[in-house]
Amino acid sequence: MSNSKIININNKINSFNKTITVPGDKSLSIRWVLFASLANGTSKAKNLLMSEDVLATIEAIKKLGIKVIITKKECKIFGKGINGYKYKKLTINAKNSGTLGRLILGLLVNSTEPINLIGDKSLSKRDFKRVSDPLSKFGAKFELTKDNFLPLKINGSSNLKPIKYNEIRGSAQCKSSIIFAAMRTDGTTIIKAKKSRNHTELLCKHLKLPIITKNNKNFDEIKIKKIKKINTLNYDIPSDISSSAFFIVLTALSKSSELTIKNVNINPSRTGIITILKKMGVKIIFKNQKTYKGEKKADIKVVSAKNIKAINCPPELNSGAIDEFLVIFLVAAKAKGVSYFKDLGELNQKESPRLKWGEKILANLGVKTITTNNSIKIYGNPNLNLDFNKKITIKNYLKDHRVFMTSLIAALSFGGKWTIHDKDSINTSFPNFLRIIEDLNND
Ligand code: S3P
Repeated sequence: MSNSKIININNKINSFNKTITVPGDKSLSIRWVLFASLANGTSKAKNLLMSEDVLATIEAIKKLGIKVIITKKECKIFGKGINGYKYKKLTINAKNSGTLGRLILGLLVNSTEPINLIGDKSLSKRDFKRVSDPLSKFGAKFELTKDNFLPLKINGSSNLKPIKYNEIRGSAQCKSSIIFAAMRTDGTTIIKAKKSRNHTELLCKHLKLPIITKNNKNFDEIKIKKIKKINTLNYDIPSDISSSAFFIVLTALSKSSELTIKNVNINPSRTGIITILKKMGVKIIFKNQKTYKGEKKADIKVVSAKNIKAINCPPELNSGAIDEFLVIFLVAAKAKGVSYFKDLGELNQKESPRLKWGEKILANLGVKTITTNNSIKIYGNPNLNLDFNKKITIKNYLKDHRVFMTSLIAALSFGGKWTIHDKDSINTSFPNFLRIIEDLNND
């Protein structure tokens, strides 16, 4: 493997039998930074994900006047209370992070100063109306580029009104942004939200904030009131199931291999990949299950799959696997039969249009697909194996970290001569991804 921005993979991975640890969960890391910035006093986190998305979140709260100290051992945030942000003329750069960009707007709805929000090329192509619409109902005002995009300007209001909102996309970013705005608003805000990851609600409950949730089959009802005070929160962030996903799939697709991934967050709103792969015949078990501050965690053990079955994926599993579909498609590529994934329009709203990327990567593998703007049919081939001379180049102009990592897993699983560009993209969520791959390949 080289050190340039391009990586060449010319061989499949050797069989392995290992235990690994992947970095801290991205969703929890970003949320911890934001909650800690509002707490009265010093909060400490261990195993905080040190990736660009989280560092951008730390930069953002520093600009809002909050002191942060990062050492090898921990990250310390010196919160100044719920109304402790101090700043003048401010531009926040959310870089590549939809989670930061959308969540922080919820916290800024009462800002007395206008604030600009910018992002990188990828984030500037993503929908921000999905948060500016509900936040406007509270009373904040927005100026968006072309009515939808970054750069945007938010003008907060000191006269916020609680809202009733129906969140229909299953977007945890929208839901969380509304919860943050509700924390600043007199009265009770009521959200009916299509199921999505619930880390924000669980953190609120752990912090004993005035939130009530009612879980129905397809949607959650959340009631939240204004918050006066947030206590400090020390947190040992469990590992990220979305980062683990690449290694779960690599193991499933490799010969005679076995892998244990330690201490992974297995919040049921995130384990869609496990349910889907088990339905496809992959053996995965959770060991040492524990509850930690309202979240669940476990070691994940996975072994090479012998007979992979096609799946007609139930759409209710979509939100729990939303960041994992690209790599799940690789498993479908090796399944016996035709797999079908539907109601997945949200995939094209991610760091790059990922449904389209699924189609492109599988086309490179010689796997037939039929794709619409919200579904993909994958014609699996249990004997999928590329000629070692087959040349494949992946250039991912929006630098989507998950496109890079999925391409690499495809190369290591199916063979061929791959040239994969934009290696730096892994810094968004998983800076030591390649080091773990190298360790797996070395006895
Ligand atoms: C996230 C929610 C998901 C996910 C993203 C992280 C979060 O986005 O894709 O990587 O931490 O809330 P949506 O809420 O837009 O589906």
